[in-house]
Amino acid sequence: MADSTTMTLPELTVTPLHPNFGARVEGLEITASPDPEDIEQVRRLWHRYKLLLFRGQQGVSEAALVGFSKSLGELEIHVREEFLSPHHPELLYVSNMKREGRAIGILADREVGWHYDQIYLPKPAVGSLLCAVRLPEAGGDTCFADMVSAYAALPEATRTRLAGKEAIQSYAAFNAMYSVPTSPEQAARTPDLRQPVVRTHPYTGEQALYLCPGMTTRITGMPQQESEALLEELFVWSAQDRFVYRHRWQEGDCVLWDNAATMHRRDPFRGGERLMKRTTILPAADRARPCYRADPA
Ligand SMILES: [Fe+2]
Repeated sequence: MADSTTMTLPELTVTPLHPNFGARVEGLEITASPDPEDIEQVRRLWHRYKLLLFRGQQGVSEAALVGFSKSLGELEIHVREEFLSPHHPELLYVSNMKREGRAIGILADREVGWHYDQIYLPKPAVGSLLCAVRLPEAGGDTCFADMVSAYAALPEATRTRLAGKEAIQSYAAFNAMYSVPTSPEQAARTPDLRQPVVRTHPYTGEQALYLCPGMTTRITGMPQQESEALLEELFVWSAQDRFVYRHRWQEGDCVLWDNAATMHRRDPFRGGERLMKRTTILPAADRARPCYRADPA
């Protein structure tokens, strides 16, 4: 559990956002060439708190978002190339904006259900940095669920039942519910695949529930009905208020989250244009494949 009090590190002020996880970090500007000592602090805080808020970054350039993110790891070029920045392919636009009749970003203005970014890839990102450039009048909050706390609080019998199990993760299922279909070529690059349902964190060794209503379709190795009932139980469990931080965006907010330990969802919104820019940060290659260790470090 995260500390509940503000602490001041050299030059950085850290204020928790939720009893379990999340912190606002003040005293840092997102730049293309950040100070290596700042990055080491950010990396430690990112793993400790699972979500970091950097407020007041209005006017941050795309080069700065990319450069800062690259200092935390190699960046993924998202499969939805039609929604990438025309200047920096490492940036994905999440937006309802249109230019010359064409959507410039993904996910428009509807609700987006709980999901882990890229859980459908063999080597999913461990982090995403999402920055609010333009916001609408109402709605569009993003909720994050701490899946380490959710797993730790499960009854022992449920954790035993999940040990070593795998589930099918489907980007196609997510798109059918919340987005637009991929092209055939994109679909060929993102087939359904299996991941462990409990993931041992590649850096902290903590265990997290690694499944989500938006993309997880079935736990393998058990009858369909049993899988449906167990998934429903786990989805309701992990979306409880005690595990969830709701973020109300301000323009200039940049949120960096741990994508191996939290899932997220978005409210629908109305009343104007919304533009968010996201980088997607990969783990080191030797830690990239999600795994379950019965006795984590
Ligand atoms: Fe997402």
